[in-house]
Amino acid sequence: MSKQQRTRLIFLLIYFVTIAGTVAVSALLVNIQQRKSEAATPYVRLVEVTEDTTDPEVWGRNWPKQYDLYKQTSLTTQTRFGGHGGSESLPVEKAEDYPWLTTIYQGYAFAIDYRERRGHAYMLVDQEQTERHQAPQSGSCLHCHASLMPVYRELGDGDEMAGFKASHQMSYQEINGLLHESGNAHPVSCVDCHAPDTMQLRVTRPGFILGIQALAESDAEVPHLPSIQLWRDSGRTEPYSPNADATRGEMRSFVCGQCHVEYYCGDKMPLTFPWGNGLKIEEMEAFWQEQEFPDGGEFYDYVHKLTGAKIFKAQHPEFETWSQGTHARAGVSCSDCHMPYMRDGASKISDHWVRSPLLNVNRACQVCHAVSETELLARVDGIQSRNYELLQNAGVAVEDLIHTIVEAQEAGVPEEALQTARELQQQAQWYLDFISSENSMGFHAPQEAARILGNSANLARQGQIAVLKAQVAEAPLGEEVIVIEESVEGE
Ligand code: HEC
Ligand code: HEC
Ligand code: HEC
Ligand code: HEC
Ligand code: HEC
Repeated sequence: MSKQQRTRLIFLLIYFVTIAGTVAVSALLVNIQQRKSEAATPYVRLVEVTEDTTDPEVWGRNWPKQYDLYKQTSLTTQTRFGGHGGSESLPVEKAEDYPWLTTIYQGYAFAIDYRERRGHAYMLVDQEQTERHQAPQSGSCLHCHASLMPVYRELGDGDEMAGFKASHQMSYQEINGLLHESGNAHPVSCVDCHAPDTMQLRVTRPGFILGIQALAESDAEVPHLPSIQLWRDSGRTEPYSPNADATRGEMRSFVCGQCHVEYYCGDKMPLTFPWGNGLKIEEMEAFWQEQEFPDGGEFYDYVHKLTGAKIFKAQHPEFETWSQGTHARAGVSCSDCHMPYMRDGASKISDHWVRSPLLNVNRACQVCHAVSETELLARVDGIQSRNYELLQNAGVAVEDLIHTIVEAQEAGVPEEALQTARELQQQAQWYLDFISSENSMGFHAPQEAARILGNSANLARQGQIAVLKAQVAEAPLGEEVIVIEESVEGE
């Protein structure tokens, strides 16, 4: 090859390399540009959605990925204590694993039918078919089981709050009828957590809005909800408004707190979340004790059929229990674990398949915990197994107390001792039911759950001792006074 030829070849090589390089760089730039615009406008609106668009399928035309994930809440899933599936048949009765539930709920519809929960897709049909309707249920029930804001607006002539305040006096069947007639018979839908114009997270449920306002107005400590302290410090006269005042991180839990909470739901007063003294179990207990029905009557959920004790029924307090745990304190929201981010091209989307995080440890936990999946699952199992044991112990203790009171009533033990025992039953049962109804088997706040269950068992045994003491005092010398039945534990 001559020197001239060699120079030409080198020139040609440089030429082609440059062209190839330019093409590659341009392609990369185009790609980056595309990804940037994807991240900036993650969707194109094909259809308009408004406050009245409760059908998730319509929203799904604009946001197909979130919609596809959302639909997966109808799939069957199962973990040791959670994710009780979405098969054709209903989940199992809770009393199969916790037989004392039937005893503690005597006199209340929960003794007839109370099942494990399952995915969001089933919330409306499961409520419609529960056997608890053998007792009349209030229209308030639908607050948390359907996309019913349009029904509240209809009832209140455009005023949601007025519609909400009228709904508890209507029967379940009346409100359910309005829901179906108006075409809104969908489970929790996009419009319940998102503003249709901006897609921002927002809360819609009046029960939550009133409950969180009462919490803000109290002086309870809420270190995990900094926007409430800011509102208090600012001395504002307008009520605390979650949609205007809360941080985005708080909203990622508030949207769930619209339903996963303790409440009163009956026909005597509007649906009430008991947060006016704070979110701890004692603060909520005090709230119910101070509560009166609007007709002046004493507040309780039911009278226990066997003992006559006045009972506070606890319901799925996930929001309140999470509030007492380390994760809430560290700013970890419900959505971080139950709706974790997932990659989608260059953008991230939230996993709208709301379910047990144990089915999704990689995205739900390992983003924060640099520990293997097996190890994380073992840690959770350790917490849940301990909680399960404490729960069964407390369950048996409360059941024993109920049997002791029944026998003491038959044996004619003085009313004063019986009254003490009934009050202890109310308290012990409220503590037990609180953790038994909470759906994480202790995970959301392990130490708090253990404390509550320890108190429950202690109060139940104190109730038995109160009866025994009265019997000993009454009994003529030498007479046998054994009233305490052998514990059913281990049977
Ligand atoms: C740090 C992670 C984490 C946070 C934060 C968290 N959870 Fe959980 N949650 C769990 C785990 C773990 C379980 C147990 C799942 C199991 O047993 O399969 C659980 C269980 C549940 C269950 C029952 C799930 C089932 O499959 O049956 C519900 C409902 C629930 N959580 C709601 C909430 C709500 C509402 C919040 C916020 C107020 C919240 N969680 C905050 C991790 C979390
Ligand atoms: C404040 C919100 C809220 C209200 C009000 C409410 N629920 Fe629920 N309901 C839930 C949540 C959250 C779950 C899932 C967690 C669980 O099962 O503990 C649930 C689960 C259920 C289930 C499935 C598990 C079971 O209990 O068998 C049924 C059925 C049900 N509710 C019926 C009703 C009825 C009837 C009413 C009215 C008395 C009612 N709900 C009122 C939030 C609510
Ligand atoms: C409008 C009320 C409502 C809202 C809002 C809501 N839930 Fe639920 N959730 C329910 C009901 C009711 C059930 C039980 C459905 C059933 O058993 O038929 C349920 C069930 C669940 C389950 C059990 C799923 C399974 O597979 O067993 C989890 C986990 C859960 N919810 C977490 C959340 C989280 C996290 C949020 C917030 C991002 C949230 N929920 C928001 C009412 C609600
Ligand atoms: C129970 C409440 C809830 C429901 C119901 C819900 N979302 Fe979301 N959605 C969330 C949360 C929480 C986020 C995370 C938002 C954040 O962190 O700012 C989110 C985020 C989004 C985003 C922003 C991108 C992303 O994925 O993070 C879109 C778009 C979205 N949701 C669409 C939908 C659609 C469509 C539906 C109905 C099929 C729906 N959502 C139902 C709670 C909900
Ligand atoms: C957004 C980050 C984040 C996510 C997601 C998260 N954690 Fe944590 N976790 C923390 C922080 C922070 C602490 C507290 C550590 C401290 O302050 O020492 C913690 C503490 C814990 C603890 C010990 C405290 C306790 O409550 O017992 C366990 C166990 C745990 N996490 C398990 C899990 C599991 C399982 C998941 C997934 C279901 C999970 N975490 C998801 C951040 C996270």
